[in-house]
Amino acid sequence: MTIEARPTAMRTHVCGSLGVDNVGETVSVCGWVAKRREHGEHLAFVDLRDHTGLLQCVVEGSVDVRSEYVLRITGTVAERPSGTVNPNLVTGAIEIVNCEVEVLSVAEPPPFPLDDRAAEVDETIRLKYRYLDLRREQMQRHLRARAAMNSAIRSAMDAQGFVEVETPMLIASTPEGARDFVVPSRLHPGSFYALPQSPQLFKQLCMIGGVDRYYQIARCMRDEDLRADRQFEFSQLDAEMSFASQEDVLEVITKAVADATMAVRGAEIGEIPRMSWREAMNRYGSDKPDIRFDMELTELTEVFASTGFKAFGAESIKGICHKGASENTSRNKLDDLTDSAKRWGAKGLVWMRASEGDDGEVELNSPIAKFLSPDELSGIVAALGVEPGDVCYLVADQWNRTCHVLGLLRLALGRPATHEGGLQFLWVIDFPLFESVDEVTGKPVPAHHPFTMPHPEDVGLLAGEPSEMLNVRSQAYDLVLNGWELGSGSVRIHKGDVQQQIFNLLGISSAEAAEKFGFLLDAFRYGAPPHAGFAFGMDRLVALLLGEDNIREVIAFPKTQSGADPLTEAPTGIDQDHLEDLGLRLLPKTT
Ligand code: AMO
Repeated sequence: MTIEARPTAMRTHVCGSLGVDNVGETVSVCGWVAKRREHGEHLAFVDLRDHTGLLQCVVEGSVDVRSEYVLRITGTVAERPSGTVNPNLVTGAIEIVNCEVEVLSVAEPPPFPLDDRAAEVDETIRLKYRYLDLRREQMQRHLRARAAMNSAIRSAMDAQGFVEVETPMLIASTPEGARDFVVPSRLHPGSFYALPQSPQLFKQLCMIGGVDRYYQIARCMRDEDLRADRQFEFSQLDAEMSFASQEDVLEVITKAVADATMAVRGAEIGEIPRMSWREAMNRYGSDKPDIRFDMELTELTEVFASTGFKAFGAESIKGICHKGASENTSRNKLDDLTDSAKRWGAKGLVWMRASEGDDGEVELNSPIAKFLSPDELSGIVAALGVEPGDVCYLVADQWNRTCHVLGLLRLALGRPATHEGGLQFLWVIDFPLFESVDEVTGKPVPAHHPFTMPHPEDVGLLAGEPSEMLNVRSQAYDLVLNGWELGSGSVRIHKGDVQQQIFNLLGISSAEAAEKFGFLLDAFRYGAPPHAGFAFGMDRLVALLLGEDNIREVIAFPKTQSGADPLTEAPTGIDQDHLEDLGLRLLPKTT
């Protein structure tokens, strides 16, 4: 890719734009001193760095330049003497000679090296000096990839007739907004705004407002525990469309992520496969399957239909087969995996090593093998396709727990590193409307929010038994990439009577509904178009496109795992007067 010269009042070129075509030209470049090497008393090689790369400048005479000084160098582009060409640099075939050096800023020595060695530096130090960290080639590349992705997504949405609408950052906290960040109001002491966890309700109001196709690259705030794929503040591509079906939404979002992938990776994503939630759970033990590798869950319940082994008298028995792993799986490792399975909720984990028996058949070796009949053992071998040298793992429990535990085990055993295995997008559709039935109240618990439209074929089940409720599918869908939940969305309920039926089922009274979502319900009374939408995490998408497994690497100024910003030292206290203005008094610290 050619880099443009980008002249300004101080420079004629950016460093990386120069090459053999410029030999003989007098140029001015500006940047930071990445490295200085002395060659005798009166000659130094200075590597000048800007956002486009490094450029070698041959400086004669005694000039006091040190690491990270900001310089303007004017000189002549020359071919490097043969044998000194550096193929690893964009500008490796040339250098600047006859240099006139102007020091624009002096600099103290940086607290850590601003090159690849920074990866070894404690992250808190990198974040405290993020402005230095950002000078590194990798961070520059990440920021620019992110900007290219944003731009591609905006173009994709604009081209599909979506209109960008900004929704408010200061909104009302809802009674269930336990994860809201709240902002005290000076004009209304004792009252609070909440920062939006997403623009969900406003985008639905936009539909009622006739916007037809809304999108926004929305900043969202959630006060939840931070992880590799979670920050307090993050960005979503948030979209909503009227008179549209799930199919319409999937098409629009596919275009946006396809264009984003092209912008960052220069690669086509092709058609995104689809899988129902139930199939995802059955085959991968997860609602966000990582389909970069197989090791699928295999159904074994039938094999043990009349078993005498008590532990296998469960609702669901499944297994996975770790191919060729026996040799490298120690007894200690098997014990660790068993402990993990228990932590994940299983009563236990059955493991079996496969070897070749005297009769040439596959033999399964396991402490519990003696409790199983020959038919059951051969049933496992046949169902899982076990060969000598494999290790297989079985879990027997309630269906959802069996799936969940084996799904996590599958990831622990086989998941490729983030930057390996390519990009595997997947639509997971037909999520259930309810995730469970509350044991105390007997009411179903919604899997998403209560505005999600049930699947049209399953509406009849809503009038049935609570136990049947769990079979009601919704028109909710997720987009998954390499086992990360990238985004989710749904067709929304736009009719009062269906909404009322769902509220009744959930045990939400009219008064409670009015208190929680009153303004949205009011708006629905004035002509709501059928509508559907989606939001995906921009931080997660760009991280995966760049092969990074922590979204902090693609955010200019992220928070640490503990939610602090070592650079600005947020969060901080505020002084007494300020507190009083806001009508606040702090409780004494309890710890
Ligand atoms: P949801 O809550 O699933 O849906 O969020 C959508 C996507 O936003 C990203 N995301 C996050 N990214 C980084 N840090 C976080 N703390 C974080 N939380 C969420 C994820 C997630 O898949 N309003 C609905 C969407 C809709 O129904 O239209 C919503 O916000 O990638």
